[in-house]
Amino acid sequence: MRALAVVLVAGSLMVGGAVLSSVGAATPATPDATPPETLKSAADFASIKDPGARSLALFAEMGKVIESPRCMNCHPVQRAPTQGDDRHPHNPPMVAGQSGHGPVGLPCSSCHGPANVQTWGQDIKSIPGDPKWALAPVEMAWQGKSLGEICAQIKSPAKNGGRSLAELHHHMAEDHLVGWGWNPGEGRKPAPGTQAQFGELVQAWIDTGAKCPKA
Ligand code: HEC
Ligand code: HEC
Repeated sequence: MRALAVVLVAGSLMVGGAVLSSVGAATPATPDATPPETLKSAADFASIKDPGARSLALFAEMGKVIESPRCMNCHPVQRAPTQGDDRHPHNPPMVAGQSGHGPVGLPCSSCHGPANVQTWGQDIKSIPGDPKWALAPVEMAWQGKSLGEICAQIKSPAKNGGRSLAELHHHMAEDHLVGWGWNPGEGRKPAPGTQAQFGELVQAWIDTGAKCPKA
């Protein structure tokens, strides 16, 4: 009996290890996940002739990703992350700490590893993870702000980490932590569309003058 238990434990650890190492390669939708909401492609906006109007429409489409719970939960105004589609306070209670990586003694990384980890048979189906897991700095806070305010802030090098528009595009289109939004782990709905599609929208928005809606 005891020998059997050990085998079972060893077996599940192996399964866990395999999941851990395969995360990040492909981004398969988990079998029971709700299909992602659709995101229009940059080409869908070609019919809007006026570049300024096209730019605004493109940013509104980008807003579907930016304002999705997967992004918003980590870009709060209060210095504490939120969870789930209803953005409830993080459980257990958590604060950003000075660096955004959590309070001394309980950094984000004590629970959030380098990749999502599936939990087996728990209410919470997975613990999200990424090597850079941390709370976004206060100047990059989005919760409770209008899309126009978020836009102005994202564009401003004083508030966006000193990024040019090209660097901003790179971050949105290539950053691994941003990419987590489309690979959020079992039990969470991904951000709409794909990161590649989002990157194309950002590029088209920049190419049309990076216009912001009124705040
Ligand atoms: C685990 C927390 C976390 C998640 C989830 C997250 N971010 Fe962030 N985000 C951060 C941190 C931390 C920074 C600051 C790091 C930096 O500047 O490189 C940041 C910075 C940014 C910036 C830089 C400019 C600015 O003004 O905000 C953009 C753009 C951004 N994130 C977009 C996104 C998008 C889009 C998503 C969802 C698809 C997302 N983030 C999800 C933590 C997160
Ligand atoms: C004591 C463990 C623990 C610590 C420390 C911790 N978290 Fe979490 N966090 C979790 C668990 C577990 C979940 C999954 C909860 C769920 O899905 O209901 C989670 C979920 C989240 C989510 C929600 C993702 C989503 O879109 O639903 C965010 C954002 C988050 N954590 C950010 C952070 C940040 C930032 C830190 C550090 C400042 C941190 N967490 C520290 C355990 C922790």
